[in-house]
Amino acid sequence: MNVVTSVDYGTSIPNNVNLADDRRVLKALEKWHPGYIDWWMTMGPEGFQNNPVYLRTATNADVGGWAKFDYVKMPDYRWGILLAPQDENRTIPCGEHFGQPVWQEVPGEYRAMMRRLIVIQGDTEPASVEQQRHLGTTAPSLYDLRNLFQVNVEEGRHLWAMVYLLQKYFGTDGREEANELLRRQSGNEDAPRMLGAFNEATPDWLSFFMFTTFTDRDGKMQLEALAQSAFDPLARTTRFMLMEEAHHMFVGVTGVQRVINRTCQAMVDAGIDDPNDIDRVRALGVIDLPTIQKKANLHFTLSLDLFGSEISTNAANAFNSGVKGRFREDRLTDDHRLTSDTYPVLRPIDGQIKLVDAPALSALNMRLRDDYVKDCMKGIDMWNKTIRKAGIDFEIVLPHVAFHRQIGEFSSIKASPTGEILSDAEWEENKDSWLPTKADGDFIDSLMVSEFEPGKFAGWISPPKMGIDNRPGDFEYVKL
Ligand SMILES: [Fe+2]
Ligand SMILES: [Fe+2]
Repeated sequence: MNVVTSVDYGTSIPNNVNLADDRRVLKALEKWHPGYIDWWMTMGPEGFQNNPVYLRTATNADVGGWAKFDYVKMPDYRWGILLAPQDENRTIPCGEHFGQPVWQEVPGEYRAMMRRLIVIQGDTEPASVEQQRHLGTTAPSLYDLRNLFQVNVEEGRHLWAMVYLLQKYFGTDGREEANELLRRQSGNEDAPRMLGAFNEATPDWLSFFMFTTFTDRDGKMQLEALAQSAFDPLARTTRFMLMEEAHHMFVGVTGVQRVINRTCQAMVDAGIDDPNDIDRVRALGVIDLPTIQKKANLHFTLSLDLFGSEISTNAANAFNSGVKGRFREDRLTDDHRLTSDTYPVLRPIDGQIKLVDAPALSALNMRLRDDYVKDCMKGIDMWNKTIRKAGIDFEIVLPHVAFHRQIGEFSSIKASPTGEILSDAEWEENKDSWLPTKADGDFIDSLMVSEFEPGKFAGWISPPKMGIDNRPGDFEYVKL
């Protein structure tokens, strides 16, 4: 079989799925395209649509050298349909069909479940673009402005990726769902996005960096689960998306690190060694570490909610049918069926948080969330290294998973960041020291002033260690 990897830019929609010979799908996508551009112009980045931005565009689905960088105006970005190369010997990695050849079409019995998962994933992609649309005007540098737009155009491409699957494999239903994806809007009262975290505001750049650290990482975990799907086109699509997703988390983790670094340097220069001396630190025009911790608390917990209920029959069914797998299923060494296994789940029982064994199949959301928390720690460790290096006595910690939850086992209780169950009164009394307040937001907002001179950075954030695509420090990432 011919494994197409290089991208065909000859059709109106760049692709490596041979759209030129698939007229029906090409037509359907061409019909959807104007609505997408319309959405991009009205709900995508505010301003800057006519400015050349130094962006990467995927050119090849092989891992080595898969993208090229060049100046492009965002509406001219070549959003394409890109799947990772096909592995002809791939077999179903989990569930009751374990070991059978993967599917190239969707089996009728799993159609509804599969469509729902693709739609939920697809809905998050444009949502984050909408959430971030106001940020351009307050970018702390051209470097950061470029990174924001890179993330935005790639989330747009991820929407295309899901829409391709809907249009190709789900007939009329798929077409309707593709249109709905352009109709719902983040935070819209009548037609909100499907998941809570994607209807929250991203009011400032620290929120953006936290979002790309924590919420894009949830996206990574969901994509990792779908990358194990028995439905091979979905697995290949998501594997390619994961290559782009890695950059989004890089933007987030290094973004927060640069904020922390700047704060620590300013404190050292001013001779302030108490990180809780918030007024003095803020007077230096940088964001104090306790406020950074609060922002992390908020975005981490909103992202935990995206994993759904710890105990879930839907998750069991999706795994059992092979529609999605566990994180890195193909590298795990158990029987991949889990019919008689258990998994430890945290639950509130008799006023205490306890770890109890649950059937492993029902506990798959909990397991994915555990993998997510481990993955988050890499970023946290990096942040703390920066604080330690500056000699400041402070540590960013991830709050307990019971803290500030709206979904799952802990949604019915109130807990502290260290996992003590609280009364409503205790929660009310302390919540402002754990989550960002209006005053914290106002302070951060006061720092959000654009810096658009090449090589210059706003005073609350350090320059990056290296430029994008190895460009020098004063490179003009966006031509204004
Ligand atoms: Fe994405
Ligand atoms: Fe992303």
